[in-house]
Parts: sequence; structure tokens; C-alpha cells
Amino acid sequence: MAEKKYDRPLIRRHTVGLSPKGGAPTFVKVIREIDGVAVSDLLAEFGSPLFVMSENRLRMAHRALDKVLRTYFPKIVLAWSYKTNWLQAVCAVFHQEGAWAEVVSDVEYAKARALGMTGDQIIFNGPLKSRAALETAFRDGAMVNLDSLDEMILAEEAAAGIEGRPRVGLRVNMTAGSYPVWHRFGFNYESGEAMMAARRLVRGDRLDLTGLHCHIGTFVLDPYCYYEQARKLAGLAQELKEELGLEVEYLNLGGGFASRNTLLAQYLPGDTASPSFEEYASAMAEGFKAAKMDRAVLPHIVLETGRALVDEAGYLLTRVGSVKRLPSGVRAVVVDAGVNLLVTAHWYRHEIMPAQSYEGDLELTAVYGPLCMNIDLLRESVNLPALRPGDPLVIWPVGAYNMTQWLQFIQLRPRVVMVGPEGRTDLIRTADELSDVLDREPLPARLTGRDAAEPPAKAPSPEGDGHD
Ligand SMILES: Cc1ncc(COP(=O)(O)O)c(C=O)c1O
Repeated sequence: MAEKKYDRPLIRRHTVGLSPKGGAPTFVKVIREIDGVAVSDLLAEFGSPLFVMSENRLRMAHRALDKVLRTYFPKIVLAWSYKTNWLQAVCAVFHQEGAWAEVVSDVEYAKARALGMTGDQIIFNGPLKSRAALETAFRDGAMVNLDSLDEMILAEEAAAGIEGRPRVGLRVNMTAGSYPVWHRFGFNYESGEAMMAARRLVRGDRLDLTGLHCHIGTFVLDPYCYYEQARKLAGLAQELKEELGLEVEYLNLGGGFASRNTLLAQYLPGDTASPSFEEYASAMAEGFKAAKMDRAVLPHIVLETGRALVDEAGYLLTRVGSVKRLPSGVRAVVVDAGVNLLVTAHWYRHEIMPAQSYEGDLELTAVYGPLCMNIDLLRESVNLPALRPGDPLVIWPVGAYNMTQWLQFIQLRPRVVMVGPEGRTDLIRTADELSDVLDREPLPARLTGRDAAEPPAKAPSPEGDGHD
């Protein structure tokens, strides 16, 4: 019998078509400026496509989260998740606001150090750390969260050459109600593996266990998951105290708060569906309370919030290249920014808005990028006014995971600017150039046609080369 195909159920909001009974929708947000700087000026000065970061939004988001957390927890640390957006200017803004650095590779570690972070302001996560990276981190006094028993053994070896006892944390995974469950990082809570790892670490007698870390997932839309996470992590901390006499200094609850983006399969838009910082923080506080860990005994609460701090600060400006009508009757536009720049278009319905006034009806439109790839689709269907080649569009929110995951694929990567106070605009990343590609691709002399000394390639013999 032929295997049945499973089609994932998908609920979509009912959208009006081209000419609905009540008339086409007449309103779409227009973004003419970003923090007081005209989109048209930005495009004229820096070209299209262009990523724009709002310094003000970065600072405001960080301050908002910091303020909420301080109302719930006596000691908090916010550590900026470099992988979410590792542009130096972005990291520097968060560091100025007081954030530590959360890094997951030796490259990110080096970036944090280059920005002036001292070892004790760096949290080093990630599932694979080299011995050299561990030695550097230990020497600098960074907080290393261990992911596996093999890594614990490697860390003990690395600690042998270091003065004093390095401080480490254990990365813990657990079921907290979010889906999918991220079981691949760290030691499992429910099976008792995390507690066993703690016993093994203590027996090893080379490292000091000073923290517990747990990152339950990303874009977690249900605050309840943080209740569960806090409750279980606090429970584990208490077990450590009772059985091993260890009092941890840090409970690190990772990242995962949803930004205001909207997932492709999400019914309500992000600005309605995403919980507030307040809702997340109060769920955590309840979780600690349920584990009988109240304010008076709480250690430092560390958060590594990524996308919820940076997403809304990022805009992608693009221009329409062509407008066409598909055989289905649907209008399509091709813009000059593709999914190589906007990786998150694969899972979010980003807002796409005109940057100038318009007249007339809106029409549901497919927005394609410039790549010669069928997957280069930014929005399958979004209401837009009549558009002409050259018209600017603004895609938002795009600040998280794009400027780190973007690809040099078919096209080169564009500039990034940051709009600062009083409309001051700075280039914070130059555009790729053709030489960036060519200089990294040495061409063997025999392929250049200029290497006279090289014998010509042997023509294949008609008898074959002896292989089947
Ligand atoms: C260990 C760790 N901390 C923090 C983050 C940031 O997560 P988010 O952007 O969902 O807040 C991540 C991202 O996956 C992570 O792996």
C-alpha cells in the first residue's frame, strides 16, 4: 500500500481578495523614515538593498528588559547573545547598556575580547569547545558552561595547566512545555543525568561548579515554559546544595523570548501574540517561588535574550526591480533583496511596507527576491499598493539572525548602517566586494592557461583508466 502523505495542518487568517464585496483594504502602514532619517535619503546615500539598525530601539529594548527583571530579581545579569547579531556596533551598544557577552565559539569569544569585554564578563556556551579555547577562557576567568561528559574531561585537562580552579556551569536540558524540546544541548534534568554530571564534576576535583544553565528553545510563545524551567532549575540547584553542599552563584535561563515577528504558521500577528517581558519575568518568578526559592535566597539570574532585544531594531530597505502578473492572476514584484540576506523569511511573515505615499487600492502581492532560485520568496501574499520599478519598500523586523546567517550566494552582501541620536547615521558594515570572493579562491596555475611549464592534461584513454 502506498505510504500516506502527512500534510501539516495550517490555519491562515482569512484575507480579502482582489475585489472583495466591501472593497479592497485601503490602509497599509507607510514607513517614510527611521528615527528621523528619511528612507529615501538612506537609499540615496548608501544604495539598495540596505540594512538599517536603530540604536535607539536597541537601547530602549535593553532598558525595558533590564527594568522588568530588576523588579522581580535582586541580582540580574543580561548577556548579549552574539550569534543573534554580532556586528560590532550592535554588541557595543548592548555592552554600553551593561550587557555581558554570551558566545558560542572561539571566534565569538575573540570578538567579545576585541570589544573590551574582560573574561569575567563572558559566558561561553556552545556544544563544542577546543582545548585551546577552554584554556584561554579559564585563564581569562570566563564562565564556561559544559555541554557533555567528554567536554568535562577536556575541561579538566585544560584546567591542569591553569592556576587556581576554573569556575564552570553545567548546561541542562529539560522538558518545559515548549516544542520542539531542545534535548541535544547539555545534560538532561528529568533522567537525573544533570545531577550525575554534577557528582562527576565534584569527584573530578579540578573545576568549581558555580552555575546552572538552560536554554529551552527560541521564539517561545508561552510564558508558562519559563515557569517550568525556573521551577526545575531551582529544584536542581537545591539538590546540589542538599547532596553536594554546593551553592550555585548563577542560574542562567538562556534566551528564547519571542520578538514581535509573526511566524509563517501563526494565526495572530506578532504584536498581539508575543508575550511581554513582564509576562515572561513573572512566570519565572512564580517558578522560583514554586520551588521554594524566594527573593532572599535567589542567586544571580542570568538571561541571554537575543531576538527579542534586536529584531525590531533592524530594517531591510529594498527597491522594486520589476512588477509582473503570474498565470494565476496574482501580482508579483521582484525586489533587490533576497533570502540570502533575509534568511528569516523562511519562517517569518515579515511586514513589507511602502516607503512613500500611495493612492488607489491595495492588492495582495507575492514578493520575490533577485536570486534565480524558486525558494527566493520574501512574502507569498502581502497587501501592497501599485508599485513601479525603483519604488522603495521597507521590510521589518529583521534585526535578529539575519546579519549573522546571511549568505554570499549569487549576490554580495550589502552595507549596514546604524541610525544614532539626532539622526546621525554611521556605516557599521561595508558591503562585500568582488575581491572578497576572488581573493579567497586561488586558481591553480594549470587552470589559468598561463602556465607554460605545466604539461597539458592527459586525454582520457579510449581503454578507460582501469577502473570499472
Ligand atoms: C545558549 C543560547 N543562549 C541564548 C540564545 C538566544 O536565543 P533567543 O534569540 O531565542 O533569545 C541562544 C539561541 O539559540 C542560545 O543557543
